[in-house]
Amino acid sequence: MKFQSFFMLFLSAAIAASTTLGTDSSNLVSSSAWKCLAGLGRTYAILRGYQSSGLLDPNAIQNIKNAISGGQKQVDVVLYPCFPCGNAQGQATVLVDSLRGQKYANIWIAVQGSQWSSTVGNNQLFFEDMADAILTLGKKFGIYTSANDWGNIMGDYSYYSGSPLWYYHYNNVQSFSDFQPFSGWTAPTLKQYNASSTLCGTNVGLDWS
Ligand SMILES: *[C@@H]1O[C@H](CO)[C@@H](O)[C@H](O)[C@H]1NC(C)=O
Repeated sequence: MKFQSFFMLFLSAAIAASTTLGTDSSNLVSSSAWKCLAGLGRTYAILRGYQSSGLLDPNAIQNIKNAISGGQKQVDVVLYPCFPCGNAQGQATVLVDSLRGQKYANIWIAVQGSQWSSTVGNNQLFFEDMADAILTLGKKFGIYTSANDWGNIMGDYSYYSGSPLWYYHYNNVQSFSDFQPFSGWTAPTLKQYNASSTLCGTNVGLDWS
């Protein structure tokens, strides 16, 4: 436990030492737009991989290719789960299998939206199935949520607080100073500070770490 907190401190110090600017999108972004974003210092692309309707994002593969050819240094994908569809493991498997061979790093599981169960225990079990499946398939995951949404959907559930947290707070400020610890997370990894901005002719979310 002591070692772990030391390691977390070390990690957050390492993260704080250099700034990363990210751009997220659920749309198809052209290679030239990614290049333009890279020219603005935004070299971390976060793309929708799986839709909350329960389908792979039809643009996911082309979007990853465009981001890479547009000079993005890291590409991650977001999995928006479909709780009512059931089969969390199957959803994770479709995403990972469909993107096999594509140059993306991590999967962010989104815990937000209104389609979850009103029973937090059901949501926790669904999440565990999804997270386990991703790890078994050899990928790493983080969690995209806010204190409010996590509390409403998962309750005060800290089992995954060792996983990277990407939180949203749309105050347009590139800083973690607004972050309040919740459900075991004492520090975030990434912040989405603007949900809807227009850069390089495309509608994007803005991220910072
Ligand atoms: C997000 O960025 C856009 C400009 O790109 C700005 O107009 C908008 O006010 C920002 N949103 C917030 C919440 O500050």
